[in-house]
Amino acid sequence: MGDHRVSVVNEVYPSYLLSILRDKNTPLNVFRETMREAGRVLAVRIMNDQDYTIEHVETPLGTASYKRPKHYDDIVIVGILRAALPLVEGMLEVYRKARVGFVGAKRVEDSSREGKEFDVVMNYYNIPPISRESLVIIADPMLATASTMIRVLNLLKPKLDSDVEVVVASVIAAQFGIEKLLTIHPYIRLYTIAVDPILNDKGYIVPGLGDAGDRSFG
Ligand code: URA
Repeated sequence: MGDHRVSVVNEVYPSYLLSILRDKNTPLNVFRETMREAGRVLAVRIMNDQDYTIEHVETPLGTASYKRPKHYDDIVIVGILRAALPLVEGMLEVYRKARVGFVGAKRVEDSSREGKEFDVVMNYYNIPPISRESLVIIADPMLATASTMIRVLNLLKPKLDSDVEVVVASVIAAQFGIEKLLTIHPYIRLYTIAVDPILNDKGYIVPGLGDAGDRSFG
């Protein structure tokens, strides 16, 4: 994937975490803990890619410089219920001051549809204030058809200043969903641990990890 808007976070540690998430025998509690850790790892990577200022801190013995991430005080994380809950929790361990919003959205899996398009029902939407300095991170572990993410961005984007940075964080993204998302919302950046090749007829990513909500919560 040569697109500069897509960062595949596939170093050894995230790749190892993903192997636990993919394993069909991983029990629910371990799955949830690992998803939380994946959120922490993605948040660190997103932070490392942000602009920063050089600041100074007084130690007991002198002064030291450090890199302060530009957006640290003004982050809004939006989680798509319910699968994103542990991912958001992990991100909050890094972005401790983040404001958090949630969107309840569900694909209508039996709607009459063509190809890989799904209707999306959105039944809850609660987003905290977003300023022009905010970094907005939308978290959803599985970017499959991208139908839900596109719906969320369709609602969110008109309310944002044009220069607000918007990042999508997922654990596995399907090539199909990435291309569709970046075509319809070309200003976003995507962070994902893996890009999987196949989207099956039910809109599941293959090999993927199954249903992320079910695997975290039963
Ligand atoms: N949502 C999931 O939880 N898993 C998929 O494979 C696709 C969408």
